[in-house]
Amino acid sequence: MITVIANLKGGTGKSTVAFNLAVWLGSAGRRAVVIDLDPQKTLTDVAALRMEEQLEPAIAVEAGTFADVMLPEDAEEIIVDVGTADLESFKQAIMIADRVLIPVTPSQADIWSTQRFVGFLYKNTHGNPPDSIAFLNRANTGKTDQASDEAAAALETLPGIRFMPQRLPDRAVFRDSFSEGLAVFELEPRSAASRDFKAFAETLFGHSRRSMQDRLNQQKISAAVDPALRQVLETPSSRLGVSDRIGYGEAIPASAAGAGHEYWQRRQWGDGEQQYKADRKRDKALKEKQGKKGKKGKKGKKGRKGKKGKRGK
Ligand SMILES: Nc1ncnc2c1ncn2[C@@H]1O[C@H](COP(=O)(O)OP(=O)(O)O)[C@@H](O)[C@H]1O
Ligand SMILES: [Mg+2]
Repeated sequence: MITVIANLKGGTGKSTVAFNLAVWLGSAGRRAVVIDLDPQKTLTDVAALRMEEQLEPAIAVEAGTFADVMLPEDAEEIIVDVGTADLESFKQAIMIADRVLIPVTPSQADIWSTQRFVGFLYKNTHGNPPDSIAFLNRANTGKTDQASDEAAAALETLPGIRFMPQRLPDRAVFRDSFSEGLAVFELEPRSAASRDFKAFAETLFGHSRRSMQDRLNQQKISAAVDPALRQVLETPSSRLGVSDRIGYGEAIPASAAGAGHEYWQRRQWGDGEQQYKADRKRDKALKEKQGKKGKKGKKGKKGRKGKKGKRGK
C-alpha cells in the first residue's frame, strides 16, 4: 500500500510521522520503504544516521524527484514524504497514492489549510482523490484540550476527508528521538507518547506481528540509550550478582511458586551460589547413598551368595 503523508502546510509533522511509521513497520517485520520526495531530504538524513549508528531496523529510503525514484517491487508498505518545495513530485505522488495521511496541528490556520488541501487533492486527481485521512498531531497533553477538541469537531465535518480520532501528543520526545535517529518508542518505550504512537500506527496498519525475538531486539535498541539496561540485557541472567542488582528477587512469577521451582527460588532468595552448591552436594550425596542402598540390596544378595559360595568352597 502506498501511504503519502502530505499537507500543504509545513511543520505539521509529516517527516516525523513518516519516520516513526517506517521504524514501526520495520520492527513489526514488514518490508517498508520510504520514498523521500522532499528536497529537504529529512528522512534520507535520519535513515543515514540510523545506518551510522547501526540501529535496527535500518530504513530503506529512495530519494529524488518523482521521476527519479523506482517503486520497490517487493515492499509491503511504501511511505512517501513530500514537501511543497517540489510541488510537481508532490502532485504526482498523490496521483499514485492509495491513501493520503494528513497531519494537522490544532489551530484555526491548520483547519483552513486542510480545507484548501482537500480542494488541491480533488483538483490534482481529476476529481478522484485517494482515501484522505486527517489526524491531529501535537495535541495538547493536558486533561482538557479545547483547541484539539475544536479542531477535531471541524475536521469531522470537513467534506472530502476521513477524520482519524487517534491524536499524537505534543511531546518533546518526538523531537529528541528524531535527532538521535530513533523512533519515539525506541527512545522511551514505556512513555505515554510511545503508547499513543503505537495505537496510532496500529489503527493505520493493523496489529504488529512482532516475534518474541524482534521484541527482544527492540529492547536492546532501547538499551542502547540506557547503558545500565544494556549491561543487564547483555549479562547472562544466570549470574546471581546481576539478578540481585536488578531486583529479580522481588519478581517471582506465579509459575515459579511450585515446588518444582525450588532451585530457581533458592537461587533468587537463598544465600546464592554457595548455598545452591551445598544443597546440590547434599542432594547428590543423599541420592548416592540411596542408590548405594538400592544397589547394595541387589549386590548384597549376590555378594552374600558369592561370599556364601566362596565360603562354601
Ligand atoms: N507530536 C509532536 N510533538 C512534538 N514535536 C513534534 C511532533 N511532531 C512533530 N514535531 C516537531 O515539529 C517540527 C516539524 O516537524 P516535521 O516532521 O519536520 O514537519 P514537516 O515534515 O511537516 O515539515 C519538528 O521540530 C518536529 O520535531
Ligand atoms: Mg518534512
